Amino acid sequence: MNNFTYSIPTVIHFGKGQISHLAELKRSGDRVLLVYGGGSVKKSGLFDAAVKILTDAGISVTELPGVEPNPRIESVRRGAELCKENKIDMVLAVGGGSAIDCAKVVAAGACYDGDPWDLVLDGSKIKAALPVYSVLTLSATGSEMDEFAVISDLSKNEKWGTGSDLIKPVMSVLDPCYTFTVPAKQTAAGTADMMSHTFENYFTNVKGADLQGSLCEAVLKTCIKYGPIALREPENYDARANLMWAGSLAINGLLSYGSEVGWCVHPMEHELSAFYDITHGEGLAILTPVWMHFVLKKDPSKTAQLAAYGRNVWGLTGEDSEAAEQAVNKTAEFFFETMKMPANLRAVGITEKTHFEEMAAKAAAGCGGSFVPLTKEDIVSIFEMAF
Ligand code: NZQ
Ligand code: ZN
Repeated sequence: MNNFTYSIPTVIHFGKGQISHLAELKRSGDRVLLVYGGGSVKKSGLFDAAVKILTDAGISVTELPGVEPNPRIESVRRGAELCKENKIDMVLAVGGGSAIDCAKVVAAGACYDGDPWDLVLDGSKIKAALPVYSVLTLSATGSEMDEFAVISDLSKNEKWGTGSDLIKPVMSVLDPCYTFTVPAKQTAAGTADMMSHTFENYFTNVKGADLQGSLCEAVLKTCIKYGPIALREPENYDARANLMWAGSLAINGLLSYGSEVGWCVHPMEHELSAFYDITHGEGLAILTPVWMHFVLKKDPSKTAQLAAYGRNVWGLTGEDSEAAEQAVNKTAEFFFETMKMPANLRAVGITEKTHFEEMAAKAAAGCGGSFVPLTKEDIVSIFEMAF
């Protein structure tokens, strides 16, 4: 196991009615920027509930509406300007990962003199940020409890993740009831996203981090159990609650401390989103089984780890090679049959291969230190197989 420093400072208020804690934002000042997406929070009544609690607490609200799924740098720039013009004290996101990611870079951009895109390209340039808060409405990214934010500049086909301890949310409200209205497509995509975060941490080359591995298996089994229930019964509280907490734990550091490894499926997916603006979790679901298959082929020494995944998560038996192959098949079956997700790139509207070389070259920069390091050519093959 590697050395590590545990630092997960976000206060989580989990469960029904926890939104009342928004009154505590008063500690950070009198003026909040409220960041939200395309309107789901208005439809559900959450927006009005949040504004009432804030105004009752004596906090004035400025709005940044319309944050896009795969949030754009233009929204971030708009938000940073609003903060500066209105002398905003803190930023509150109400929504999914896109609203929260946008809020994080807005909070940093508000304290930065240049273009916020600089902060997306280089997280070390984040030297200060307004306090960030969130009310989560979609279980997926873990942004409510981590230091990352992913922002796109679609004019350049670029989507990059940045990170800084300074943009970790101070406090997040996680009320599973707010996810009852999440449509099936996003429920499935969110489940795939948190599973992918877990896989990225689980398939590591660090030896002896057994506890982290077991925690990963527990998160995966939780997703496999509750994802299908949430699809069938969108208002099943326990299903939504387990998925919500799994999403936070998958990426907040708990699973990766001491067993650090470079992520690989995410850099590949971010290229798909950057060029084709697809839903993140759908891209991950398509790539994951293909990547597992490719890993087994490129580096057979990884067979035992894939087999252990098959045994411990899927209850498979048999020789390593058979269990590993079956584990890949089980993963594909779960995403494409049980969770009814699109199974290839054409199914998400990517109908030509024009950009594969360029996308692979960019993704390869992130895949060098991963479980099985991938070259640009490897990644082109993976895109081809996913096509
Ligand atoms: O915009 P609204 O109207 O709110 O609708 C959203 C959006 O259309 C809708 N939605 C959210 N909550 C809902 C709801 N609809 C009904 N009821 C609710 N309760 O769902 C759609 C997708 O929302 P979005 O926030 O885009 O989804 P998600 O949470 O999956 O976030 C995706 C973004 O996060 C990035 C992704 O790349 C992508 O840009 N990621 C962020 C990470 C992080 N910060 O650590 C890590 C991830 O790997 C990921 O890259
Ligand atoms: Zn993700």
